[in-house]
Amino acid sequence: MPNEKQITIFEVGPRDGLQNVKNNIATADKVGLINALSKTGLTKIEATSFVNPKWIPQLADAKEVMAQIERHKHVDYSVLTPNCVGLERAIVAKADEVSIFTSASEGFCQANLNCTIEQSFERFVPLMQKAKSAGIKVRGYISNIIECPFDGVTDPSVVAVLTKRLIDIGCYEVSLGDTLGKGDKNSVKRLMQQVIKQVSAQQLAGHFHDTYGRALENVDVCLEFGVSVFDSSIGGIGGCPYAPGAKGNVATEKLVQHVEGFGFKTGVDVDALHSIAQNLPS
Ligand code: HMG
Ligand code: MG
Repeated sequence: MPNEKQITIFEVGPRDGLQNVKNNIATADKVGLINALSKTGLTKIEATSFVNPKWIPQLADAKEVMAQIERHKHVDYSVLTPNCVGLERAIVAKADEVSIFTSASEGFCQANLNCTIEQSFERFVPLMQKAKSAGIKVRGYISNIIECPFDGVTDPSVVAVLTKRLIDIGCYEVSLGDTLGKGDKNSVKRLMQQVIKQVSAQQLAGHFHDTYGRALENVDVCLEFGVSVFDSSIGGIGGCPYAPGAKGNVATEKLVQHVEGFGFKTGVDVDALHSIAQNLPS
């Protein structure tokens, strides 16, 4: 495994984490969390989602959160945008970048986005044009890279084709989402062998939910393939309300410690992360 290399940690806790908490979190607490994370050396923070608030009520205050956070110039504040309505809201809120998201399985796409995979791409066409005119970078997500809660095991070649499609329409990076956390080193290796035939490791990120405690072993497989961007959630909070049983992403503090243990650099203060993780809004 290479070392002395920089790993980028993409903190998704304020979005992937807080979208799935039971209690109503005050806007000020979300803002406080993002402000604290901004001071740890992180360079990428997914702050919230500009989705239909009826679908994700916990992030209905996205506009207020984006207006109230203290922006740090070394941090890109990213948001989820499923369609043009979301992108327009994100532009008004001055998001630094946005993420579009689809699924490798039809069942989850329907449950999460109320459309087929093909229709999700139809929505992305005008979104990508608008984002380009506005000078906003777009990241792509693919959910259920290993298994879907509705359709079962995913064919890795489907993920590879969708990854290439997202890059071809203009995403600068595709985050591969193991939504349920069902992946293990064998299935992630099989997946990566297919995906890497289509795009380069520099265009990929790993997004591993830690439902069964295997997220770090899956990160290790991606490191072997040269991936250097990983999503994680402070304190391991979260999951997707449309993926029954899914737990949070791998905890940011665990991930930083893990990759730094191999000699990689993250630029993130792990002690500061631990202290934030102990005082999360709940
Ligand atoms: P829909 O109900 O089919 O939308 O939802 P529609 O186009 O028919 O519009 C219905 C109403 O919603 C309209 O308002 C629209 O204006 C409004 P009305 O005319 O009734 O007053 N609307 C919006 N409002 C605010 N922001 C928007 C927006 N879009 C439409 N962006 C939609 C379709 C895609 C909007 C909906 O399904 C949705 O919001 N889904 C998002 C679900 C979600 O956020 N899931 C969690 C994130 S994904 C995830 O966690 C996985 C990930 O972490 C990776 C992994 O782990 O796998 C990324
Ligand atoms: Mg997720």
